[in-house]
Amino acid sequence: MENKRGTWGSNFGFLMAAIGSAVGLGNIWGFPFKMGANGGFAFLVIYLILAAIVGVTVMLGELTIGRKTGLSTIAAYRQLNKKHAWIGYLGLVCGFIIMAFYSVLGGVILRYTAGYLLQLLGVDGFAGAGAGFFGAMLYEPGGMIFFHALFMLLNILVVMGGVRGGIEKFSVFAMPALTVLLVIIIVYIAVQPGALAGYAFMFKPNFAPLREDFFKVLRTAAGQMFFSLSLGLGCMINYGSYLEKKENLQRNALIIPIADTIVALLAGIAVMPACAAFGVDFGAGPGLLFVSVQQVFLSMGSVGNLIGFLFYFLVLIAAISSSISMLEIVTSHFIDRRILKGKEPGRKKITCIAAGVIFVIGLPVALDALGGGGAAIKAPYELLGYTGDAIKGWCDCWLDVYDLIAEGFFMPIGALLMSLLIGWSYGTEMIRDECELCGEKFRLFGWFKVAFRIIVPIGMVVVLIGQLMSFFG
Ligand code: TRP
Repeated sequence: MENKRGTWGSNFGFLMAAIGSAVGLGNIWGFPFKMGANGGFAFLVIYLILAAIVGVTVMLGELTIGRKTGLSTIAAYRQLNKKHAWIGYLGLVCGFIIMAFYSVLGGVILRYTAGYLLQLLGVDGFAGAGAGFFGAMLYEPGGMIFFHALFMLLNILVVMGGVRGGIEKFSVFAMPALTVLLVIIIVYIAVQPGALAGYAFMFKPNFAPLREDFFKVLRTAAGQMFFSLSLGLGCMINYGSYLEKKENLQRNALIIPIADTIVALLAGIAVMPACAAFGVDFGAGPGLLFVSVQQVFLSMGSVGNLIGFLFYFLVLIAAISSSISMLEIVTSHFIDRRILKGKEPGRKKITCIAAGVIFVIGLPVALDALGGGGAAIKAPYELLGYTGDAIKGWCDCWLDVYDLIAEGFFMPIGALLMSLLIGWSYGTEMIRDECELCGEKFRLFGWFKVAFRIIVPIGMVVVLIGQLMSFFG
């Protein structure tokens, strides 16, 4: 069984792959724009609290369940208790949804990468600066579909290579390189006039946004935290299942969130001052990354093309190392089923079919021009006949609908169920015993017991109530 499924080459390789899964568009694209639209400092504080308390706990739970059972999400839950397999299925469905819109965004990154490469070679006009280029691009159905498909193809190629050959090799060099480049961009932006307001927005205490709409900040930060850490749908169960018994789970469960949060903070420290320096509104929404860093590269003169290319290329790799982990959720489920039935894993065929289905699910996201109106297909609010103030955040565009389903509901529900089961049914002792297999003592047992039983569940219930209130309110 072990041999057919494969294991990580080393704990370092595992860490790089898990961090590779966590660090992606969520950090670089999602974190800055969500922080920008939710009050900067207030969002940051809530995010950090959630990551430290809920993120670390759920990470520990998922990794441990994975390694204990050595199975992919659904099979893992089934092994723990026959009646719980459906929780794994929730994760599988959610994986399809997230990957679908992720691939469309990945396609946009791919397009900018190619555009900057062309500019480097002296062909202009494929990665223009400012909101105009970004907006126009959204209205080209052919281009959106083409790059969405191309991104999916890249994923297929990597996932077909299997755990060790594909995913791990890919991640080991890209994550450190991206961090270095981010730091270079941060330093450049720091000396631009006007950048200061960006740091103030992030770090100067201002709790007014919490008084205005606490639930909005909370649910956005919670969704972002799950998404960014790849938690709530069993992705980390999967990654944990390939981990050897000698590795220290508890330490890994701490390192991954820390690394992920550092990259998100770096992205924030790059994008917020860039917005301030180049007059981009913090709350500009999903286009924020593109319209702000584009100005930065433009201001750098000719070297901007090279920096822009490197930046988008590394973000592309970060995105792929994340999206393959979603594709893996789907693929490994079907592989494990075939292995259980005594068949060959059939990794290649399964990967292609799964990717094809996900591609189709992603098409609405690629075609509604982020809800700009009058696009190739109608946005959800247009279908519902909403206008003006009746348009709510979640029905702005297909991306937001997918986002609401996945980040808004499935992930908090997944985390809620897993914590309750660990806390009250499987027992935190199970986590401790599995963690101690590496020969080191499990730390903070009492804390994690309370966290699984009470703290995380209550947190998730509050988040879900906030979510429902905004949906119906
Ligand atoms: N964490 C990734 C990011 O920030 C996205 C991601 C990868 C993900 N795998 C996941 C999100 C599994 C949820 C579940 O870009």
